[in-house]
Amino acid sequence: MSEHNRRILLAARPEGMIKESDFRMETVAVEKPGDGEVLVRNEYLSLDPAMRGWMTDRPSYIPPVQLGEVMRGGTVGEVLESKHPDFKAGDKVRAMGGWQDYVVSKPDGRLMKLPEGLPIPITAHLSVLGITGLTAYFGLLDVGQPKEGETVVVSTAAGAVGSIVGQIAKIKGCRAVGLTSTDAKCTWIKEELGYDAAINYKTEEISPALAQHCPKGIDVYFDNVGGEILNAALGQINFKGRVAICGAITQYNATKMPPGPSNYLNLLVKSARMEGFIVMNYLDRAMEGAMQLGQWLMEGKLKYKEEIVDNLENAPTAILRLFNSSNTGKLIVKI
Ligand SMILES: NC(=O)c1ccc[n+]([C@@H]2O[C@H](COP(=O)([O-])OP(=O)(O)OC[C@H]3O[C@@H](n4cnc5c(N)ncnc54)[C@H](OP(=O)(O)O)[C@@H]3O)[C@@H](O)[C@H]2O)c1
Repeated sequence: MSEHNRRILLAARPEGMIKESDFRMETVAVEKPGDGEVLVRNEYLSLDPAMRGWMTDRPSYIPPVQLGEVMRGGTVGEVLESKHPDFKAGDKVRAMGGWQDYVVSKPDGRLMKLPEGLPIPITAHLSVLGITGLTAYFGLLDVGQPKEGETVVVSTAAGAVGSIVGQIAKIKGCRAVGLTSTDAKCTWIKEELGYDAAINYKTEEISPALAQHCPKGIDVYFDNVGGEILNAALGQINFKGRVAICGAITQYNATKMPPGPSNYLNLLVKSARMEGFIVMNYLDRAMEGAMQLGQWLMEGKLKYKEEIVDNLENAPTAILRLFNSSNTGKLIVKI
């Protein structure tokens, strides 16, 4: 174990798109765990679009990261030293370990032991079996409530969450239609993930493409982007349709908020509903979600992709990939 902890702090609040200079790296001594605490070496760090929101000083579902604080982030790693009876050195854990080599943490619900003996890499606990998979699972099934034979439309369909949503929709017997930014991603979601149709939202007209691929209209729209795609989906929502608001990445770096979707009145006309959710609402059911996702994974019904960037130092540039569409699947940093 090194005696030094490299850690990346929030140095400035971004204006518009995140810049490398919004972060600052420093090296400090590794802390010692106190009574009831454990020292964890962070091995992998999840990079998430939500981090852009955490960098902004405004009220949200979680307090913003303060200037000078270690940047918040979900991690998996190994316990090096424990002063808590439930943990021992060598345990693999999931934690909110932050953008740093080591974290001292109390088991407060965010530090959890990982199940042993699963034939999957530890990174899967940040992707398909982690927050990503649980977001797809609860967002689609609990908020979207798809029924067999219905049409489910998914934006960022080749991303971490979206790639899982489409596959769950197929498992539930639905027609899955995905939107993403390149022909290569369109091919991947159709040929590898089983999406019935894919729309390249950069090169195709969105509304006519949705009409073509959703001939019976849209029953569930799983929204990760907001903006034009949300508006187009609302325009074709069916009677009693459901829109699950998972994210709105078109707005995360915006300096001025765009006007709301002009087609929202369709929610009234079609007696449809639009409902936002935060995966943390489902923490008490996380085990249920992880067990089901794990079972589908073992049965070969679920595939997942991870893009792993080497070295904590590259996290400030790697996060930009989420906002310029250059990631496929789950973006992770090997610390
Ligand atoms: N509600 C919750 O609890 C919860 C939890 C986790 C994640 N989320 C949300 O879920 C969404 C997906 O997150 P993720 O972790 O799975 O990320 P991701 O999809 O792996 O990566 C982000 C993707 O967003 C797309 N994108 C970026 N800028 C865009 C733009 N201006 N317009 C349209 N698409 C754009 C890109 O895909 P394309 O190639 O398709 O453009 C990019 O690959 C985000 O909105 C995130 O905030 C919500």
